[in-house]
Amino acid sequence: MTKVLPTSIDSSAEPVIHAALAARERAHAPFSKFRVGAALEDDMGRIFTGCNIENATYGLTMCAERVAVFKALSEGSSKIRRVVVVADTEVLTPPCGACRQILWEFCGQAELILANLAGKQEKLSLKEIFPRPFDASFL
Ligand code: THU
Repeated sequence: MTKVLPTSIDSSAEPVIHAALAARERAHAPFSKFRVGAALEDDMGRIFTGCNIENATYGLTMCAERVAVFKALSEGSSKIRRVVVVADTEVLTPPCGACRQILWEFCGQAELILANLAGKQEKLSLKEIFPRPFDASFL
């Protein structure tokens, strides 16, 4: 069966969505059981993935999005043009507050695609979900 993407989502997003789905499979979420995958695409077409990683303190848990951003930055990638976040929820899971801050600062202009396992997808911008941000322009 050929999956039809919503018209607003370019077909070039497909490999990035697949990468986020695959990353989600690697989530380490024994406490919440809530698995999240993220994938970023940079201006060179390189894809960086992340999954949420929980630990026994709970509080040191790292979200999928920040794992992906830090991986991209540490690999020398700075121009991220697309961010995909996937979780197994009917209402598409958006980035948490902490991740919105990091995504805004490091890839604020990227398009943001939320997706679930049932093939539901939505394209948003960081500006939409993170209005009136604090960032380095204030410092
Ligand atoms: N989580 C993410 O990975 N990204 C988000 O934006 C929302 C929350 C993870 C953190 C934790 O492991 C689990 O989902 C439940 O909060």
